[in-house]
Amino acid sequence: MTSNIRFMSGDLIDSDIRVAKTLPSKYYTDEKRFRKILKSFKRTWQFVGLSDQFTSAITPIDHIGRLLNEPMVRVQDGESTHMLSNVCTHRGMVLCHEHSDAKTMQCPYHGRTFNRDGTMKHMPGFEEVVDFPSEDDHLASFDIRTWNGFEFTSLKPEVDVEDVFRPIQERLGWFFSDLKYDSERDRNWDIDANWMLYVDNYLEGFHIPYVHPELNEALDKDGYTTECFEHGVLQVGMAKEGDVCFELPESSVDSGKNIAAYYWWFFPNLMINVYPWGISVNVVVPNGCDSTTVLFRSYVKHPELLEQGAGAELDKVELQDQFVVENCMKGLRSSSYKRGRYSAKHELGVHHFHRMISKLG
Ligand code: FES
Ligand SMILES: [Fe+2]
Repeated sequence: MTSNIRFMSGDLIDSDIRVAKTLPSKYYTDEKRFRKILKSFKRTWQFVGLSDQFTSAITPIDHIGRLLNEPMVRVQDGESTHMLSNVCTHRGMVLCHEHSDAKTMQCPYHGRTFNRDGTMKHMPGFEEVVDFPSEDDHLASFDIRTWNGFEFTSLKPEVDVEDVFRPIQERLGWFFSDLKYDSERDRNWDIDANWMLYVDNYLEGFHIPYVHPELNEALDKDGYTTECFEHGVLQVGMAKEGDVCFELPESSVDSGKNIAAYYWWFFPNLMINVYPWGISVNVVVPNGCDSTTVLFRSYVKHPELLEQGAGAELDKVELQDQFVVENCMKGLRSSSYKRGRYSAKHELGVHHFHRMISKLG
């Protein structure tokens, strides 16, 4: 009972970072809390992909099914793009398993067939069934929104896509053109840790000198900044003298600075890393309380700048991060650790995230 009341309280994490304590370890290890927190994902916009990357008319979006317990299939139907339920309305079989350009979608269980707009077209053996088909026999459809060519879906959106992404639009809207999806750079990383540990680690550059010696070489130690927004956090890394950085337009508020990377995080599980070469999107997919898969998807704008500066060797950086994240998971199960404190200088992003989590009802 007591723990429930504390869970609802925004004061679990004090708004003053100098006196605040971090999220209690139970938040990372308790199954019930895990499931409760996961419900908040349904109210957020979840990343689907860049419109141009879908070369087939019918594409099951696997990670959405795992994130929201809601299998979805993206369907191009002439000029219209639909995000349909990928669950057959007969007995609940997952409908599409492969991408295809078929005119219709046929359930592999008993052959129910759907049009690309989700309406039921044909069902064998149902000739004598009364009042069939009805509305319930068509596939449900979900919201789909496009922002700078990227598609997002949501079950119960509470905020407009434009409102969520306003800070990145204002700061970096000029960068979002001519992006090409490069499937060769796809990675799906499996991590033995709670998803929030992955986010915690992402939200501070405090660990860079200790965990990422190579990345540390590319970044100017004194130039790392963190800004918190209503729906996310931005960290900006400055390039060391002579290293690769953005050619910023004069209209940019950052014009004249040597910026190596913009690290954007949006609640709860989306990272948009903007490097001089292009954009690396990370989607954090919780599989269970202590198991997470992180999807890396790359959208290249300037291929000649790949493998330079802060956007280089992302695989190596990822494995270095996984070492600390997995070992924090082990540490958080210890009876001797309950919660810690924040660096008021370096951990503003982590503090902001923990405040958001602590306020979930
Ligand atoms: S479950 Fe799809 S046709 Fe039976
Ligand atoms: Fe890191």
